[in-house]
Amino acid sequence: MSAPDRARVGLAPAKVNLVLEVVGRRADGYHEIDTILQTLALADGVTLRPGGPPGVSVTGPFAGGVPADETNLAWRAAVALGGIVGRPPGSLGIHLDKQIPAAGGLGGGASDAATVLRLLEAEWGGLPQAALLEAASSIGSDEAFFLLGGTARATGRGERVTPLPGLPPHGVVLFVPPGTIERKTASMFAALGRLPFEHACAAGEFTRHPPGRVTAGQVVNSFERVAFDVFPGLAGLQAGLEAAIGEPVRLAGAGPTLFWIGPTAQAAGVASAARGMDCTVIATETVGPQWR
Ligand code: C5P
Repeated sequence: MSAPDRARVGLAPAKVNLVLEVVGRRADGYHEIDTILQTLALADGVTLRPGGPPGVSVTGPFAGGVPADETNLAWRAAVALGGIVGRPPGSLGIHLDKQIPAAGGLGGGASDAATVLRLLEAEWGGLPQAALLEAASSIGSDEAFFLLGGTARATGRGERVTPLPGLPPHGVVLFVPPGTIERKTASMFAALGRLPFEHACAAGEFTRHPPGRVTAGQVVNSFERVAFDVFPGLAGLQAGLEAAIGEPVRLAGAGPTLFWIGPTAQAAGVASAARGMDCTVIATETVGPQWR
């Protein structure tokens, strides 16, 4: 057991979906998806203080709107794991340094939660992986992926994760619009559910024949069928960015962030071409599971 004042620190990376296919509705109200996920170097900082002071605190450029209480996914992850292994979080303190825009489709909240699980695994020791996975899946659909990171395929509601060979490093530029919508992910799935589902094949194809290089033009995302109607101004932003950059930009997860992916050496030029547009521009790169 660590001394009460000894903190454990970890990184919680963002993700983009290189493929995100929504293939059907399930009896439990969730949707069946088939997705290829990729972690990014852009990451929140997570600090765990086993000796307290208890609770959640949040700082950083994207702290706005992130709950600093027991509703935060990071806290709920600790409670869920504690329940499974019989160790209530007690005086646990969790601090999040939010570098990932919240509710943007980049998985920041789920990643914070997964990193708390990994830090608790190190703190408590000897936990079965199944306990971590159960805790992760009980609080959301992307959390299980973030226990692994790198490049992976996820199916089911997103909790069945298969690691894939890592992509070579790619540059990624994120374009984060100023606003999002209430209950964003649920609203986006609901909007899709009114359309006929597509026949998914891109995630399977990516798995069978991993592309050495990915460009934004290859990215497939079912949510693009509805995102440009749901998020005010997003269609105009996409058109403006594509005109300025001269290449496609795609929706990240359930949005509203847009992203470019391509050769690392081109990322700085892409980021500066977007200067002056109505969005926050963040240049980053893909990263394998080595951040852990
Ligand atoms: O998993 P997460 O808590 O992020 O999901 C938020 C909401 O998105 C769910 O309550 C559900 O309405 C919807 N969802 C879905 N199918 C999925 C994942 C999420 O319908 N595979």
